[in-house]
Amino acid sequence: MLFPDYRPRRMRQSEAFRRMVRETHLRVDDLILPLFAIHGKDVKNPIPSMPGHFQLSVNHVVKAAEEAFKLGIPGVILFGIPPKKDALGTQAYAKDGIVQKAVRAIKDKLPDLAVITDVCLCEYTDHGHCGVVEGHTIDNDATLDLLARTALSHVKAGADMVAPSDMMDGRVTEIRNALDEADFSHIPIMSYAAKYCSAFYGPFREAADSAPKFGDRRSYQMDPANSLEAIREVAMDVEEGADIIMVKPAMPYLDIICRVREEFDLPVAAYNVSGEFAMVKAAAERGWLDEKRTMMEMLTAIKRAGADIIITYFAMDAAKEIKP
Ligand code: PBG
Repeated sequence: MLFPDYRPRRMRQSEAFRRMVRETHLRVDDLILPLFAIHGKDVKNPIPSMPGHFQLSVNHVVKAAEEAFKLGIPGVILFGIPPKKDALGTQAYAKDGIVQKAVRAIKDKLPDLAVITDVCLCEYTDHGHCGVVEGHTIDNDATLDLLARTALSHVKAGADMVAPSDMMDGRVTEIRNALDEADFSHIPIMSYAAKYCSAFYGPFREAADSAPKFGDRRSYQMDPANSLEAIREVAMDVEEGADIIMVKPAMPYLDIICRVREEFDLPVAAYNVSGEFAMVKAAAERGWLDEKRTMMEMLTAIKRAGADIIITYFAMDAAKEIKP
């Protein structure tokens, strides 16, 4: 098909034609909204690097979840900021931990909204690492039991799905077994399967107060230079029983999303992380980018690359923008 026989512009000349041949449709159903829960009464602390997002006390978490539900967003993912931290992150698996409380309150008010919980220790440990620290290393196997306890306590509180984000080896098996043994074999696991050690998590660490106090996460999160390794990581989580496999971050890793979509037949989630959100917001604030158009283009591109599910701080804004 060569010019002048084929003229690609023919099908671009009107919005009606463009709609007919559009290949990718972003839907509200594709979106998951992250929320940050904090102890206290009537708290709504703005997160400076994430305009429009807040650390929310339980009553406000419920309000935000309700707003998302009304917009048609199928699910939220919860993160917690505990009142105190310790070496073993005990607040992560405390019965009355902040996430556990928030889950109960949301499910009580909105039984049909899917409540997913992020399973990790970094928000709860005083050293800020995602696992048990031994000297200056992170002890993989000693961490597994704590992750399983965390996941189980979330599910006991009513979580519909758990999402381990720690990147310890073998955590999906450990969590699956713990859930199955407690009669929660129906609860799915969305694993952060290919999670990179990314500078794009900066604003999140401000939001969740979870920056490591020493060193960095390079001994457990993936090297941004690697893609074959991502396939191995995902394959491992699939073998271990993951129900949804996630690639994170999204925008700088569209090639990984695309490969994972092609090589596996499970639903693929992409996490459009805090730094991706902050970049757009900051540029839009300066008048350098059109926020809505950039947001829609970015989310559509993530979907086009192969993501079935997009976790994004833009979920509410995008839901408002998507026409029913
Ligand atoms: C916890 C966790 C992080 C994110 C999700 N879960 C931070 C990290 O790994 O340091 C980042 C999400 C975002 O940046 O939006 N391990």
